[in-house]
Amino acid sequence: MEVYVFRLFHRKERDKRVTTHCALVSRAFLAKKMFYCGDKDENLENKIKDVVKRFGGNFEIEYVKDWKNFIKNFNGIKVHLTMYGIPLTKKIDEIKKFEKILVIVGSEKVPKEVYEISDYNISITLQPHSEIAALAIFLDKIFEGKEFEYEFENAKIKIIPQERGKKVVKSE
Ligand SMILES: C[S@@+](CC[C@H](N)C(=O)[O-])C[C@H]1O[C@@H](n2cnc3c(N)ncnc32)[C@H](O)[C@@H]1O
Repeated sequence: MEVYVFRLFHRKERDKRVTTHCALVSRAFLAKKMFYCGDKDENLENKIKDVVKRFGGNFEIEYVKDWKNFIKNFNGIKVHLTMYGIPLTKKIDEIKKFEKILVIVGSEKVPKEVYEISDYNISITLQPHSEIAALAIFLDKIFEGKEFEYEFENAKIKIIPQERGKKVVKSE
């Protein structure tokens, strides 16, 4: 199964940490790529590329100019995460049947059209929280916890788990 993330309406200054964390969570929890729209942000893209270079894998980040066309033309199932949607627990078996999934997360106000052009509007609890948390839970459930075992290819930095302290193996 291939999962892609679409982060809506990034604001360069206000959202720099949250959007960075959306991308880091997407990568760590096994999404293939994060698309984003709003302000194009070279700093954000470089930060993520640098993490990929050091920690491995093939995760990509790409700016999208026309969000509506992009969602409409995505050739897979489109799942918009929103606290107003149907609980993930009720739809997860259905969603897991698809080979290609676009997970859409918002920032501030999400336009009505996003609800309409998405195939599923899915909630991760019916409480307001965060796109980072919603994304992490969605990906963890979809991949059934596989991220815990996953080893990224070509990593220059590898962490060896410790009861206490930090152990890092570096290679060039
Ligand atoms: C900080 S929230 C703001 C949502 C905004 N107030 C609205 O009405 O659309 C940002 C994003 O987090 C995600 N999110 C927050 N709570 C959620 C929940 N309970 N279930 C699923 N996604 C959620 C949604 O993708 C949302 O667009």
